[in-house]
Amino acid sequence: MESDLDRGSLWGDLLIVALVVLAAAGLFSQIELNEWLFASTRRWEALQVDELPAVLVVLATGLGWFAWRRYRDARAEVRKRQVAEARLEALLLENRRLAQQYLRAQEAERKSLARELHDELGQYLNAIKTDAVSIQDRLDAAQSQAVSAIIRHTDHLHAVVRDLIRELRPVALDELGLQAALEHYLDHCQRRMPRTRMSVTLNGDLDSLGELLNLAIYRLTQEALTNVSRHAQAGHVAVRVSRSGPPVEAADAVTFNISDDGRGADLIQTHAGLGLIGMRERVEMLGGLWRVTTGPGQGFSLFARIPVSIQGAMP
Ligand SMILES: Nc1ncnc2c1ncn2[C@@H]1O[C@H](COP(=O)(O)OP(=O)(O)OP(=O)(O)O)[C@@H](O)[C@H]1O
Ligand SMILES: [Mg+2]
Repeated sequence: MESDLDRGSLWGDLLIVALVVLAAAGLFSQIELNEWLFASTRRWEALQVDELPAVLVVLATGLGWFAWRRYRDARAEVRKRQVAEARLEALLLENRRLAQQYLRAQEAERKSLARELHDELGQYLNAIKTDAVSIQDRLDAAQSQAVSAIIRHTDHLHAVVRDLIRELRPVALDELGLQAALEHYLDHCQRRMPRTRMSVTLNGDLDSLGELLNLAIYRLTQEALTNVSRHAQAGHVAVRVSRSGPPVEAADAVTFNISDDGRGADLIQTHAGLGLIGMRERVEMLGGLWRVTTGPGQGFSLFARIPVSIQGAMP
């Protein structure tokens, strides 16, 4: 696993050492170093200074051995780190795969639940109301009042079920396209959050993005605005969804940005739920760019840019 760079610098260093040794040998032979050392250290023979050259040779050999050991240790350490990095990368990939699987399973579950609610509960509520209306005229005043209450309750239940279905599976998305579904949903949100002024900008052709992108943008908007209503205490929230370039252009992309002026959050301290993670996964699954900008007292801003080129259907 030794890299070309390591090998290159090793041979480079050895070459430098060899050249320096050759140059030193040439120089020493010119100045007769050993003879000079011998002559100048003879006087100190009693102190064994004339043995210094041999001691220096042993020291140089020792330093060489020491450097070699350090080099081997460093290589072993690098190898260990490379293995750990590869393992971490595999774990991150696995983690991403699981998160995506979770999103797909959640979407499939929501779809079937919405279908059940619509086909079963919705139909039966309709039948109850129709029956109640049909018998109302044939009853006396007291009984008619009770039947009116049944009709009112049925209408209320119907509205609740419709809201539930809209949360689970945005039918408008399939029937009317992303632009109308977003407008419809944002209108609904504005009524639910009367204290937060909402400004909406929807630009470009948002109705030919394909099912995956439609669903991703819709779910991002849903989660972002649910977070605004739950956590932000904002006075204003700006929703911008725009598609840049004509649909066939290479740089065709959808830009999504929801920013509020609320209390913001410290994301390092905050215990994260699944909402932000799910949003990031959806965006990255589609090859997009995801950014969250916030801080205590600084509002909360979500930004995504998703290329339109990737198409596909959610299973
Ligand atoms: N618009 C916002 N303003 C202020 N804080 C926010 C905003 N959006 C998210 N947060 C903070 O970020 C945290 C993580 O958000 P996330 O959507 O991941 O989780 P959650 O909303 O708490 O739970 P979940 O979405 O799983 O039901 C929140 O708990 C909240 O503290
Ligand atoms: Mg949330």
